[in-house]
Amino acid sequence: MTADLAVIGLGHVGLPLARAACAAGLTTVGYDVSDAVVTGLNGGRSHVGGVADAAVAAMRVAGFHATSDPSAPGLADTVVICVPTGLGAGGTPDLTAVRAAARTVARCLRPGMLVVLESTSYPGTTEEVVRPLLENGSGLRAGADFHLAYSPERIDPGNRRFGLHNTPKVVSGCTPLCVKHAVAFYGRFVRTLVVSRGTREAEMAKLLENTYRYVNIALVDEVALYCDRTGIDIWDVLHCAGTKPFGFAPFRPGAGVGGHCIPVDPRYLAAKAEAEGFSFRMLAAAHEVVSRMPAHVVGRAVGLLDEAGKPPEAASVVLLGVAYKPDVADARESPAEPVARGLRAQGATVRYHDPYVREFTLDGVPLARVESLRDALAGADLAILLQDHSCYDTTTPTRAECILLDTRGKASGPRVTLL
Ligand SMILES: NC(=O)c1ccc[n+]([C@@H]2O[C@H](COP(=O)([O-])OP(=O)(O)OC[C@H]3O[C@@H](n4cnc5c(N)ncnc54)[C@H](O)[C@@H]3O)[C@@H](O)[C@H]2O)c1
Repeated sequence: MTADLAVIGLGHVGLPLARAACAAGLTTVGYDVSDAVVTGLNGGRSHVGGVADAAVAAMRVAGFHATSDPSAPGLADTVVICVPTGLGAGGTPDLTAVRAAARTVARCLRPGMLVVLESTSYPGTTEEVVRPLLENGSGLRAGADFHLAYSPERIDPGNRRFGLHNTPKVVSGCTPLCVKHAVAFYGRFVRTLVVSRGTREAEMAKLLENTYRYVNIALVDEVALYCDRTGIDIWDVLHCAGTKPFGFAPFRPGAGVGGHCIPVDPRYLAAKAEAEGFSFRMLAAAHEVVSRMPAHVVGRAVGLLDEAGKPPEAASVVLLGVAYKPDVADARESPAEPVARGLRAQGATVRYHDPYVREFTLDGVPLARVESLRDALAGADLAILLQDHSCYDTTTPTRAECILLDTRGKASGPRVTLL
């Protein structure tokens, strides 16, 4: 059976892409190395927050199926690689999954196919890493026998306003013909396409977008550290500065930067630049500041417990919201982890409440979870609001019998202290 599209890697990026393609009438197959993912999707179950089981069921009706058969991508006209790009030992780029996916595609590559890399990586990945693997593994030439493109994903989990179809998408290719094929493909389900000069510009644009966030969060984090030391109200500062209608983009301080993009992508840029003899001093400084924030939160928490006459080793602390951003179930790289570890190191008993995250492990051991917010607040000496899920509305502190440290600048009340 042939297909319009094969998606390689059916995670937070690949599954929404497959869903959008199915909805646009493209016959779509998904390939994933995880049997659990494949079995779940074929059974109509989603493992990705933001893609409901009903959406998977609709995809199945539209003909979608998932497979762990590595020859399946060879049946498609277009193959899009959406595999993870995390960090390896020492915080360096780990392209293991990208290389493995490229080898899989190479083995079944046919003349005329379009291959697109969507995974985030450093400039040069498409040309220097993926292209040789595809060419050497297939005997075909990019730009001549098959088309090779790079198009970074901009998905924003939990964002109800901007999805794949209405977020402008950057598209690039190894040759003008590669670009033409990539534009024709994405044009079937994305409203606005932005063509970059080359693949390295598109790769760099993605890293700039996320590095911009990282550096600006680090800036307000450092301003918050200074304000804490000098008794200036950082939240009022942010409120005032945020009223400027031009030239200022608001960012908030917090316990750290989580997720698998914002803290990870700048490391890709820094590592690649370093290998080329260029030092990104801004990134190093931002990393240093952001890394201090979990310890700062722990320090503030211990200070509040002291003021309440409760030694940390006798205290029960509950973390409210361990996901890395509001209203999502994803806790990867969440700053809740170093905060929980730091509190434990002080001897505190640590539990968490998060309606989205059913299991949160610390050093491989699940952290105790409290199901109801009422119980969470009733049973603790201190609650730390780490993530402003919409369930933590402004009434949360009034329900708290314990003291509350709010790292998100949302709560107010006699028992509330802001970061
Ligand atoms: N999640 C986001 O919000 C987001 C946004 C923009 C860009 N990105 C980037 O997109 C890429 C994918 O991220 P994600 O969040 O979807 O990852 P994910 O971990 O959610 O999903 C990746 C999937 O790929 C599968 N996989 C791993 N190796 C494979 C292989 N060799 N062949 C086939 N399948 C394989 C895994 O089993 C998993 O199901 C990353 O480069 C990431 O940085 C992610």
